[in-house]
Amino acid sequence: MKLVGLSGALAGSKTAKVVHDILICAKDIQPDIQTELVDLKDYDIDFVRGTPLQYYNKDTIEVVNKLLFADLLVIGTPIYQASITGALKNVLDHLPMNAFKEKVAGIVTLGGSDKHFLVAEHQLKPILTFLKATVPVGNVFVHNDLFDENKEISNPDYYRRIKKLAEEMVFLQNSLTNR
Ligand SMILES: Cc1cc2nc3c(=O)[nH]c(=O)nc-3n(C[C@H](O)[C@H](O)[C@H](O)COP(=O)(O)O)c2cc1C
Repeated sequence: MKLVGLSGALAGSKTAKVVHDILICAKDIQPDIQTELVDLKDYDIDFVRGTPLQYYNKDTIEVVNKLLFADLLVIGTPIYQASITGALKNVLDHLPMNAFKEKVAGIVTLGGSDKHFLVAEHQLKPILTFLKATVPVGNVFVHNDLFDENKEISNPDYYRRIKKLAEEMVFLQNSLTNR
């Protein structure tokens, strides 16, 4: 089973760290899971122009295919202007309608204001559901205050919450695959 973690941040590194932590948790739960972090900072993704995928650049084709060939996903985004990043929305706009059919897609969001913790539920979840993903009931919101000056997190509740999300993702994906 291949788990792809997508980080939708082009500016900072906190989102990629949290997505990476979820990949580690999932592998601890089920060691035969293969994991890969797709950090949008490492790719030059074309804006959607409405043409077939083969007319876009190599990075765009590569990232779209990584998402399409994943069995299970975790999607992370910083909250920008009370929504997801434009970079993440652009990648999701490249995907066909049934891209995430029979796939579980967990959500992590990060922000500087906990007033925006519902962005995951109200903005990202409907897009993933439109793409036919099975979205876990739980998601993880990480406030900037949890990071120390080395951009690490020591809060034990954070590790409990990401473990819970990873457990729900793996359980749901195994149930979908084996039904
Ligand atoms: C352009 C911009 C808009 C932002 N808008 C919000 C916002 O509306 N709500 C919020 O809670 N945080 C907002 N933030 C803060 C980021 O979500 C937060 O710092 C996040 O942890 C950054 O993640 P990163 O280190 O992966 O880039 C914004 C940051 C930027 C750069």
